[in-house]
Amino acid sequence: MKIEILSLIPGVFADVFDESILGAAKRSGLIDITIHNFRDFGEGRHKTVDDAPFGGGPGMLLKPGPLVSAIRNLRDSGPIAPVIGLTPQGVPLTQNMAKELACHERLILVCGRYEGFDERILPAFDVQISIGDYVLTGGEFAAMVIVDAVSRMIPGTVGCEASVKEDSFYDGALDHPQFTRPATWEKSSVPSVLLDGHHAKIIAWRRGEALARTAAKRPDHFRRLPLSQDDRGLLQTAFCPQSESNEIRRKIKV
Ligand code: ADE
Repeated sequence: MKIEILSLIPGVFADVFDESILGAAKRSGLIDITIHNFRDFGEGRHKTVDDAPFGGGPGMLLKPGPLVSAIRNLRDSGPIAPVIGLTPQGVPLTQNMAKELACHERLILVCGRYEGFDERILPAFDVQISIGDYVLTGGEFAAMVIVDAVSRMIPGTVGCEASVKEDSFYDGALDHPQFTRPATWEKSSVPSVLLDGHHAKIIAWRRGEALARTAAKRPDHFRRLPLSQDDRGLLQTAFCPQSESNEIRRKIKV
């Protein structure tokens, strides 16, 4: 996958994509990331890209001319690609969205700065994405989050495909609890089912715990999970329904 990022501060991306899993994915050619400075399309001797808002107000806005020229230039320079504007007003990033974006051959990510985009820039985006309900100083960190979340959905980037499928949110549920050696640490012991080597029991325990955890920590996701008859049975043993809402108790019918 080719990922192109438009930013006014390309320096912040130095090295972040070069380590660990993303670094390996780059070196093996699974992802190829290029950062472009859209100041190159700025106006006049000072390469201006921003101006004060009409009607007054704090800060500066990105002007439509330079940024839209940069987007058009990139669109025309390679295979078809969704252009993604990064803004707190966008649709919240989800695991499903990361999975969907990973199917594209090329992505173009556009990082805002200052107080935001002139409204006339917005039609140049195919989608606007937010990484959460808070305001960052620009879209660069949001772009890094998207690159990371999307890259690990590309087959081959994460060594073990099975581990991606067990991630929190992959199928809508949170991940189950995980333990490593030692089996007992500071009087706290690993659940015995994980030590017995009975594979089917381990799978069942993990599913039950994942569902129970989702019900307790993210009832909003739990409500949308399709539950099988087996899931309901597993939840009975894994879950303490007294502590949860009527709605969730009704869903697992206890
Ligand atoms: N730019 C500023 N804040 C942002 C956010 N929360 N998500 C995406 N882009 C942003």
